[in-house]
Amino acid sequence: MKRRDIVKWSASMGGLGLLAGAPSRVAATVPVPRPSLPQKTDLLSATTRRLQLVAQQATYLWTESHLNLAGVPMAAVVPPAELPTLEHQLRTSALAVEAVTNLAASLAPSAVATSSLQTLDGLRTRLAATQASFDSLAAANAGLLKLPVAALTLLASLTTTVADIATQLKQIHANLMAQAGQGGQAKTVAQYDALFVTIEKPAIAQLLHDNDSFSYMRVGGPNPMLIRKVAALPPKFPLSDAQYRQAMGGSDSLLDAAGSGRLYLLDYESLGGMAPAGAVNKPLTGTDYGYAPIALFARPKGGRSLVPVAIQCGQDSSLSPMVLRVDDMANAEAYWAWQSAKTAVQVADFNYHEMFVHLGRTHLMSEAFAMATQRQLAVQHPLSRLLAPHLEGAMFINEAATLIIMGPLTTGDAILAAPIETLQRECGRDRLAYDFYDNMLPNDLRARGVDDVSQLPDYPYRDDALLVWNAIQQWVGEYVAVYYANDGDVTGDYELKAWASELAVSGKIKGFRAITTRSQLVMVVTAIIFNASAQHAAVNFPQSSLMTYAPFYAGMGGTPAPVGAAGQTEASWSQMLPSRLAAQEQILLFHILGGVYYRMLGDYRDNAFPYLPVLLDPAITSPGGPLDRFRGSLAGVESSIRQRNLARARPYEYLLPSRIPSSTNI
Ligand SMILES: [Fe+2]
Repeated sequence: MKRRDIVKWSASMGGLGLLAGAPSRVAATVPVPRPSLPQKTDLLSATTRRLQLVAQQATYLWTESHLNLAGVPMAAVVPPAELPTLEHQLRTSALAVEAVTNLAASLAPSAVATSSLQTLDGLRTRLAATQASFDSLAAANAGLLKLPVAALTLLASLTTTVADIATQLKQIHANLMAQAGQGGQAKTVAQYDALFVTIEKPAIAQLLHDNDSFSYMRVGGPNPMLIRKVAALPPKFPLSDAQYRQAMGGSDSLLDAAGSGRLYLLDYESLGGMAPAGAVNKPLTGTDYGYAPIALFARPKGGRSLVPVAIQCGQDSSLSPMVLRVDDMANAEAYWAWQSAKTAVQVADFNYHEMFVHLGRTHLMSEAFAMATQRQLAVQHPLSRLLAPHLEGAMFINEAATLIIMGPLTTGDAILAAPIETLQRECGRDRLAYDFYDNMLPNDLRARGVDDVSQLPDYPYRDDALLVWNAIQQWVGEYVAVYYANDGDVTGDYELKAWASELAVSGKIKGFRAITTRSQLVMVVTAIIFNASAQHAAVNFPQSSLMTYAPFYAGMGGTPAPVGAAGQTEASWSQMLPSRLAAQEQILLFHILGGVYYRMLGDYRDNAFPYLPVLLDPAITSPGGPLDRFRGSLAGVESSIRQRNLARARPYEYLLPSRIPSSTNI
């Protein structure tokens, strides 16, 4: 491995390569007191809107040749209006300082220059002072449409300071990473634990080998989107009834479980090339492995929650024997073979989560909607006013992702199993194959057979997501009704027509089609808002609480999965874990990405300082009106989820509205 290459990679660490030097927007945009449909304006207004869109279309340019994500429709460049606010940069920088401080603390003192530590202390102090100045500035200028010159000057100065902090932080980080890999490969749990010094080790570390926690990840972890009910087992997963009974007890049977809707399968076949057949030689981390396992879960008779039954570590049953669940260490070899099989599932899930569920289906989908909205809906359009805050941030964070995750010698290359070109290709393939209508929350739950609460009572993601979905749907319904009197208003909206066409053609959103009724429009807008806000929160924030801990969740394995129990030990299991470098990368990246809560759901503000409200129409914002009702609904959802959590074996907090940012901005 070439250590100098890590320095190259670190230049874009945490998105700071993008953020450093990025001017935050300093002037509020022109307010739109009363949005209108294009067909309901006079000729002069219609012409003005048309000219405005021509200018937008010259600024927001599509490309399918984006660096590191070829084939995916994205913005060719990030327009200035899409750059992160100073508020966002301050939050991201604070987390980056914490992550780099932890990295320094986890290295041997001899490997860390005293000057680096002193500089880190200095950066922490400067950042706190900058935050305090910004807070004072924001308080003094709240609500101002025209900012005093002194305020603009101070804002520019603070922006420069944050950029300078980012530049210095990158340098320290580069110096530290040049040392980080030295000291051998971490292959005991204690060595991975030692990587958490100033950042608290996630609580999941206490439940590392726990079977219930393993099952819970399928319904309340980072990727609750793959488990599906099955009426029969596929031929490629030949679990016998005797094997099923061995795991689940003699009073149950495969036939009974299948017949009563208690069998659930987790199949990673769709990872495709992201689960390479053999060893992969990675430039940063050496030899590693990926897996495409199949895992069976069942709900025991009379039980509420899934339990694991068996795992086949590959798609070919002749090469990967069935590994049955083991609950204790009476047979130590079987116990550690089972732990290794679970690790193969966790590695597969990490890849499926990051490339498909997280990056492709939330981040890259939002980018297409953001582009079409900016290019085809005038700022006076009611849907532009509603959607823009939900699509804020997608372009710049995606640009950062292509730099820090999807490029050669970046974080993705360091923590994921497949060659980086394969990761790029497979991420793009999944994004283009992701059908918009099929994957609306209620449709997806139905298609996976997990919508029946009586058959699968314990599915916190499903239950809380539906609460949020319904609140958004009601809000969108009321909003749409204010501006669209009937279906004719929908079909007569020529900006909407161009928007839908652009999403289907240029945006390559599979299944997207012309919108002809108000109810269809409500479903479409609900799905876009839910995906950009709640869905992204559900899959983004588990990164810091669950995915920083490599022994539990990693993107690559150090050895092939075992093909039998003979000789399996704790040491052979821990050899399956990733390199120390990959483990450090996970902590760094996910501590930042999983910690930025910016602009929460229900807060509709402009992206330019001082971040004025963008919904101004009294028909929407008057006391007791639609916006008030939406905020009231979210408060109700918050209290319902908190109440549910009291009764749950473990609280599910990713879909508390108070923790859902409006947009996919991190
Ligand atoms: Fe994200």
